Amino acid sequence: MEKVADKTVRTTGTNGSRSVEQNPDIRFLGRILGDVIRRFGGDTLFRRIEYIRSTSVDRYRGLISGDAVDPGLAALSQDEALDFVRGFMLFSMLANLAEDRQSESAEPDATLAEALEILKGEGVGEDQVAALLDDGLIMPVLTAHPTEVRRKSMIDHKNRIADLMRVRDQGHSETPDGERVEEALARQVAFLWLTRPLRRERLFVADEVETALSYMRDIFLPVLPRLYGRWEGVLGRRPKSFLRLGSWIGGDRDGNPNVTVDSLRLALGRSSDTVLLYYLDEVHALGAELSISAELANVTPQLRALADRSHDASPARADEPYRRAISGIYARLAATYEAKKGKEPPRPSRLQAEPYASPAEFSAELQAIVEALACEGNGLLSAHAPLRRLIRTVETFGFHLATLDLRQNSNVHEKVVAELLATAGVQPDYLALSEDERVALLRKELGSERLLSSPFLTYSEQTQTELAIMHGAAEAHALYGPAAIQYHVISKTEQLSDLLEVHLLLKEAGLWSPTKAPHAGIMAVPLFETIADLERAPEVVRKWLQLPEIMTAVTERGHAEVMIGYSDSNKDGGYLTSVWSLYKGSEALAAVFAEAGVHMQLFHGRGGAVGRGGGSSFAAIRAQSKVTVQGRIRITEQGEVIAAKYATPDIAATNLEAMTAATVLASLEQDELSEADHGRFAAMMDRLSQASFSEYRSLVYDEPGFPTFFRQMTPLSEIATLNIGSRPASRTKSDRIEDLRAIPWVFSWAQARVMLPGWYGVGSAVSSTQDLGLLREMIAAWPFFRTSLDNIAMVLAKSDIAISARYAELVEDEKMRDHLFGRIRDEWHRTHDALLEITGETSLLERNRRLRNSIQLRLPYIEPLNHLQIELMRRFRSGETDQKVQDGIHLTINAIATALRNSG
Ligand code: PGA
Repeated sequence: MEKVADKTVRTTGTNGSRSVEQNPDIRFLGRILGDVIRRFGGDTLFRRIEYIRSTSVDRYRGLISGDAVDPGLAALSQDEALDFVRGFMLFSMLANLAEDRQSESAEPDATLAEALEILKGEGVGEDQVAALLDDGLIMPVLTAHPTEVRRKSMIDHKNRIADLMRVRDQGHSETPDGERVEEALARQVAFLWLTRPLRRERLFVADEVETALSYMRDIFLPVLPRLYGRWEGVLGRRPKSFLRLGSWIGGDRDGNPNVTVDSLRLALGRSSDTVLLYYLDEVHALGAELSISAELANVTPQLRALADRSHDASPARADEPYRRAISGIYARLAATYEAKKGKEPPRPSRLQAEPYASPAEFSAELQAIVEALACEGNGLLSAHAPLRRLIRTVETFGFHLATLDLRQNSNVHEKVVAELLATAGVQPDYLALSEDERVALLRKELGSERLLSSPFLTYSEQTQTELAIMHGAAEAHALYGPAAIQYHVISKTEQLSDLLEVHLLLKEAGLWSPTKAPHAGIMAVPLFETIADLERAPEVVRKWLQLPEIMTAVTERGHAEVMIGYSDSNKDGGYLTSVWSLYKGSEALAAVFAEAGVHMQLFHGRGGAVGRGGGSSFAAIRAQSKVTVQGRIRITEQGEVIAAKYATPDIAATNLEAMTAATVLASLEQDELSEADHGRFAAMMDRLSQASFSEYRSLVYDEPGFPTFFRQMTPLSEIATLNIGSRPASRTKSDRIEDLRAIPWVFSWAQARVMLPGWYGVGSAVSSTQDLGLLREMIAAWPFFRTSLDNIAMVLAKSDIAISARYAELVEDEKMRDHLFGRIRDEWHRTHDALLEITGETSLLERNRRLRNSIQLRLPYIEPLNHLQIELMRRFRSGETDQKVQDGIHLTINAIATALRNSG
């Protein structure tokens, strides 16, 4: 690793496009890693790894010719091969860390202040922005989608290294603990080297809950109130808490039989525990600080009343009304904790008190303190930051911390409803009914005060599980308040009855009231995820909103939500058709909401990889059609994306601020396109999408051998046994691509360096048109098109068709392989050439130097890993199934995913 340092500060190989500028931190950390490998693995190991590394780097730079050199992989023993993979993986981890530091210090995408400046130039004032936000909601929603390959222990070591690098930046040679910084760094890298990277045990939902909780507690809880503090200054007034946190972990049971009502209780209980303990600590600290004596300051009657209500009779505090009031608040909080947890908090109160009925009650008492402080000293005291921050924290996180969504597949609901209707003697065969008959029956049941389920009847396991979830949700509302669970997402929504079935199940637990003014304690949210479903979405939602009982419930909330799925639409129709259907579908949905006169809230289900809607969130939100945002957006955040975007409080603050700025801009910025241009561009997109769709479908769904080809060519089955998530890789046992989950689909193609979901079909689409001028016009004028092409370029730059050809050799049937891989290769070249032709670049990412550098730095490290992975897969599949071979495959998967920076 050491030699990287000497050679690659700036090198131009024979091929100009392979010039790589290297970040000095990468050289520094690479040198430390090299030393650690030598010290712990021995000189021979170090030299062997170094030989592979330098040969690969030289080959990439064109300094030596490709085929002539044996990179030395074959000379490695089995143990050395595993060490080599770990070495390359750690190098990538450290390179990622160094790059993240660079982006931390670089200009962020945009701040709210900058967004306000841009809008000011268009005549939009701060008041309009504040009004939008007051009525808005921006919510990142953490999910446990299985794409984070690294163990939490490895990520924690990495974060410690980042902290030490910050100490070094400040010019200190010693850490606050008195260690020499360079030695401490070497020690942390050594810990990384000596930590087993693979999980031996499978993950349970409880592990996923804990991992998410660490981000909620250490990052979101302190960062959000800090951001609001900054924004109050920018907006010139205090906005409502529009930025909040959501989670799916413990509530998302779609295809995950391990999520039950116990997971729901665990997730909510742990979150509430965390936030209440945080409040107790903060209130305790306030009490220590607010030592104001009534002998030296005036006290408002409200504060005096609050102090008296505390019954704090301590003579030491007799003249300290603030402290007495705070003792009372502390006692009520402690009682609240006990009411929810069934035990006293670690630092109990000495006073007897009633629990708070709601977070609002707690915050009103804190507000009384602010008002009392405001009475004197011209606001000097009432601006007390910790107190204001605490009030903001309570407003944002309540007693629940994160809003937990429920999610299940429509197929499950349908069966459960059918069973309930049959056992109650209402309808023996619900599944045989037509859609209209189903809707009529469901509406009748929704209006009825009688329930379907009965404690005297027995139900299938699935029905029991689903009913238990509904009752668990009602229990959570009673314990933590309605903000704890607000939405029930329905995967694979196809028709109106899918929505009504969920309302009916919620009704069984009292979460839908069939009164004259129907009320939905939890609102159903349709998730549209195939191309056909996205096309149908506006019609389904229109019918839903036309039902008076639904409109009453929606109007009461002020909005309804629709979720759109990026990965499944991509798997169904290919990249271009997916992004275009999502864009068009969202616009059509916005029109349906406008017609109904209620706010739409779109929930974007996206992942890290481009094939799953990944890419820059700032660019993606900003490129949304204006009518679809309007201050409201929810977005999934998952796996490696959480670890990257929320690694430290500062990185998290930058990303959350960018998300907010993008939402404000997407809602209020003037549309760059005239209606006429929009029409011309949309017509072109329709044509491109059609051509791309035909090419994609004819390969993935119409070629009879494709499922076998895909399974043999990629490490799909090996990914399924990685132990990176609690849920199975497929919803069913079938081999069909339709039934495979989108994550392993995208993940497998990335490992084999094809990245097919990010580009396949685009080449054919562009070749189908003569009008390249129009495409260039679209790039210049339309953020949606530009962002889509940027994403395709990024994916293509990470793909390598020569390496994928080696993976294709794993396919047993030669004829099938030549035919199917031939199609992929031809389309790859078509797409690559088309992209250069319409962007006018001579090589991919020519105008995005930073990203190009980042990718090119990694490529020489990925290629040997790919070769080793192929070799190990070959051995494993021919019967060499010993643990080391399996570990080797899993390690290469980890290392390649780490180097590519997004997994699935
Ligand atoms: P899902 O997620 O399979 O849980 O719907 C897909 C994704 O996030 O890519």
